[in-house]
Amino acid sequence: MKKLPEDFIFGGATAAYQAEGATQTDGKGRVAWDTYLEENYWYTAEPASDFYNRYPVDLELSEKFGVNGIRISIAWSRIFPDGYGEVNSKGVEYYHNLFKECQKRNVEPFVTLHHFDTPETLHSDGDFLNRRNIDYFVEYADFCFNEFEEVNYWTTFNEIGPIGDGQYLVGKFPPGIKYDFEKVFQSHHNMMIAHARAIKIFKEKGYKGEIGIVHALPTKYPYDPSNPEDVRAAELEDIIHNKFILDATYLGEYSDKTMQGVQHILEVNGGELDIRDEDLKILNDSKGLNDFLGINYYMSDWMKVFDGESEITHNSKGNKGGSKYQLKGIGQREFDVDVPRTDWDWMIYPKGLYDQIMRVKADYPNYKKIYITENGLGYKDKFEDNTVYDDARIDYVKKHLEVISDAIADGANVKGYFIWSLMDVFSWSNGYEKRYGLFYVDFDTQERYPKKSAYWYKKLSETKTIE
Ligand code: BG6
Repeated sequence: MKKLPEDFIFGGATAAYQAEGATQTDGKGRVAWDTYLEENYWYTAEPASDFYNRYPVDLELSEKFGVNGIRISIAWSRIFPDGYGEVNSKGVEYYHNLFKECQKRNVEPFVTLHHFDTPETLHSDGDFLNRRNIDYFVEYADFCFNEFEEVNYWTTFNEIGPIGDGQYLVGKFPPGIKYDFEKVFQSHHNMMIAHARAIKIFKEKGYKGEIGIVHALPTKYPYDPSNPEDVRAAELEDIIHNKFILDATYLGEYSDKTMQGVQHILEVNGGELDIRDEDLKILNDSKGLNDFLGINYYMSDWMKVFDGESEITHNSKGNKGGSKYQLKGIGQREFDVDVPRTDWDWMIYPKGLYDQIMRVKADYPNYKKIYITENGLGYKDKFEDNTVYDDARIDYVKKHLEVISDAIADGANVKGYFIWSLMDVFSWSNGYEKRYGLFYVDFDTQERYPKKSAYWYKKLSETKTIE
């Protein structure tokens, strides 16, 4: 039986747009997702888990089930409906009330400023490809740091990597563009500039608390480690999803190896990046200011060499085997590997989390500390006897916590774990059937029901022992 430290955080994660509902309430501005879901998917974000009204219930449940941390994101367009300019006081009041309730329930809020939901006005104007929107983000961040003194832990962005990929590579996020690597890397770069500027302001103005960033870091392995071409495919995939943004976060520049990979990808697929000297100065100035890194980890991927035309098929309905991922001059994902995978073709491989933590520790020794800010198992829960007997989820979480415990024993500074998700929320590109929560949400009545995993998590939080 493995143990976790006494001061470890046993958290639950949420995100504004996936939980709150109330998308047009109390002066909230529209986000690109409002229209995109209506036009491209079979569901909307209304009323989601009605967290806008039901947060007292979710926080009461958190306290009762030993959840002592919650990831919450602020919806930028509740504060600035147009992304900048006039402040919406009702939005500000909502988050003050929410943080007050967290304090009342002894649940520490870890607050993210941007979780995929750029205001529509700015999104339709190029989102983070438009450098003016970096300024608006920094103004919004500064406003929040100053206003919400209740917050002790800030993160600027959730998953810069999947944002660029979802928007410009896979095309499952608005504006739905595919295979445009210039936009992918430019979006990553510009968002990293926004992050760097925001943490610099945070430190310069002496705001209290800690600040970091959350990256999704899927580990990439060669399908055949003895084949140099497969090894190369895994390296290139790692650059796209992990190394480019990790370099920007902790090296304050892009290493030669990273840039060689990026150049190769752009030569094959077309495109040119706009990386300026002043950008590199901003990154370099901020590299030591991150107090922590949030790692979101769900899966690993196995890569094979591939030379044909790019083709990605996103399996949004949970039909196992429905995914295809092959990129010109980079590689293809091989799903026929001897590890289990979910109905959405996510490869379940806890050791990938261990390897990723140890990689951060080795390659970026200035990381200071790590929180696992998302990890969990999404599947079609079977609701019976007013609960869900989600043994598969317990097994998934248990195995990932075991490798976290191993990483701590091997010298990594990991301080907490946030299960995705606290209660069921909707999934951006998969809808309401893909559930992750400790608490089952009946989306018709909005009643909450603890799943078997919630009872297991409570015991874990009490004993710090992984059973
Ligand atoms: C992360 C996001 O990418 O993974 C969450 O931060 C998301 O917002 C979660 O919901 C699970 O992904 P999905 O696609 O299964 O909802």
